[in-house]
Amino acid sequence: MAAPGENMRVNADRLWDSLMDMAKIGPGIAGGNNRQTLTDSDAEGRRLFQKWCDDAGLTMGVDTMGNMFMTRAGEDPEALPVYVGSHLDTQPTGGKYDGVLGVLSGLEVIRSLNDLGIRTRHPIVVTNWTNEEGARFAPAMLASGVFAGVHSQDYAYGRKDPEGKTFGEELKRIGWIGNEEVGARRMHAYFEYHIEQGPILEAEKKDIGVVTHCQGLWWLEFTLTGREAHTGSTPMNLRVNAGLAMARILEMVQAVAMENQPGAVGGVGQVFFSPNSRNVLPGKVVFTVDIRSPDQKKLDGMRARIEAEAPKICEALGVGCSVEAVGHFDPVTFDPTLVATVRKAAEDLGYSHMNIISGAGHDACWAAKVAPATMIMCPCVNGLSHNEAEDISKEWAAAGADVLLHAVIETAGIAE
Ligand code: GLV
Ligand code: MN
Ligand code: MN
Repeated sequence: MAAPGENMRVNADRLWDSLMDMAKIGPGIAGGNNRQTLTDSDAEGRRLFQKWCDDAGLTMGVDTMGNMFMTRAGEDPEALPVYVGSHLDTQPTGGKYDGVLGVLSGLEVIRSLNDLGIRTRHPIVVTNWTNEEGARFAPAMLASGVFAGVHSQDYAYGRKDPEGKTFGEELKRIGWIGNEEVGARRMHAYFEYHIEQGPILEAEKKDIGVVTHCQGLWWLEFTLTGREAHTGSTPMNLRVNAGLAMARILEMVQAVAMENQPGAVGGVGQVFFSPNSRNVLPGKVVFTVDIRSPDQKKLDGMRARIEAEAPKICEALGVGCSVEAVGHFDPVTFDPTLVATVRKAAEDLGYSHMNIISGAGHDACWAAKVAPATMIMCPCVNGLSHNEAEDISKEWAAAGADVLLHAVIETAGIAE
């Protein structure tokens, strides 16, 4: 027998059109997006989102980290809001859906409630968190981290991009420092809808990932000091080659991750060689090791191994080595009641589903520190993300948004 309200769905075409319209801002070079945090494109994306929220009758609040909170009033003035959200910033060669799907599906939930004339007891707040990606300013999930009290605002404002510009200066420059005290808001619940960014749901032919956990992470930034010297005329035995030390550390990170299978990953995505000239041995190499696991012991064990092995590798080559942890969160367990709500919504709507552990970090991981939180996932083609070719179908996008709509209604309560 059909569950009540099973025909209540979001408007799939409207959601898709909004995703495509947002993707026009900060276009990439290969069909995706480069709308990195606190750039002019980020400001433009925020303005478009603000306009859509205005049109939907939402009231905007912005905090001192630039987090945007768009509120639909509830019928009970005492009830804490149900938050839904994600991020509008992208990687430098990012896709159209990573983060954006969650924010615009939150808006689509509001638009659908408006269409259906449904009032809820709790207010609903659609959130755009600043600098989820951490591509420009490490660490990732910086502003939700400040919101949750994990980082201080001073620490966040002082984070520098590769050009030496600070987060605080850039937030001011784009005009999105709000006046709300960050972290002052209280949440009844937090939902984040996101593409999986991995291959499991597509391979298992499931519409919906019911996210029970998120794996933990360390970002370890290494600075290796060698000696700049001519690549042609310096004999091999006289080189102090920081590039070679980096290569050996990368091999070691790979080996450590492989020794911790299953359920561990490790790699390096960012490297700066200095002076980065073809015929100069690098005097300095800075790179960030990214290791992750849902298992706390494995995660911390990998960190300890890498931090013990790297100095030995460097010492053998006469290279200086220092390391700083620039990003970290422990594995997260999402709220069992909200997880069950998501599962039931998928069930009632007739969508196939499975439990899943998030491989990527999300603002939900920090929100979970201050509120009951969970996530919903949809598949993405070939599991590809952090790539301009990232792709999903309109039907996949809408299925997760339908689940979000039902989970939000269940949690916010329909007003009498
Ligand atoms: C955030 O995008 C991450 O690195 O998981
Ligand atoms: Mn994301
Ligand atoms: Mn991302």
